[in-house]
Amino acid sequence: MRSSAQNGDVKIELGRRYRFAASHRLHSAELSEEENCRIYGKCNHPYGHGHNYVLEVMVSGKVDPATGMIANLEELDGFVESEVLEPFDHKSLNSDVEAFRATVPTTENLCIEIFRRLKPFPKAKLERVRVQETSNNGFEYAGENPDGFEG
Ligand code: NI
Repeated sequence: MRSSAQNGDVKIELGRRYRFAASHRLHSAELSEEENCRIYGKCNHPYGHGHNYVLEVMVSGKVDPATGMIANLEELDGFVESEVLEPFDHKSLNSDVEAFRATVPTTENLCIEIFRRLKPFPKAKLERVRVQETSNNGFEYAGENPDGFEG
């Protein structure tokens, strides 16, 4: 058997990094003004502030014996561009992204929203996303049931 055919049964994970800049304000309608100020500190500033986010997308799949790849990077790039980068880059997460009108745009919630948007990628299985907010803060999300069939 040719080695490329054998490799077709091997599951490989691919990580691809993207960047976008966006502003947000951390403010919860469920908390009082005092609580918002105490919990979010300067991130509660009414006019918001920006971050240069680094998004890492991990997908898995079997190596296609014909191409030797698990997914076409251009297809992944195009999907991430249309689903995440175009709607988020140089935007106010609070006011420009519907999902954050009523949900605080913390990076935890950003991970969940990005995962939800990228989950339908048809050419490989989305394993997890990682969002780096600052050089010190990064968050990962792998879905509610990462090892199950429903994902
Ligand atoms: Ni922030």
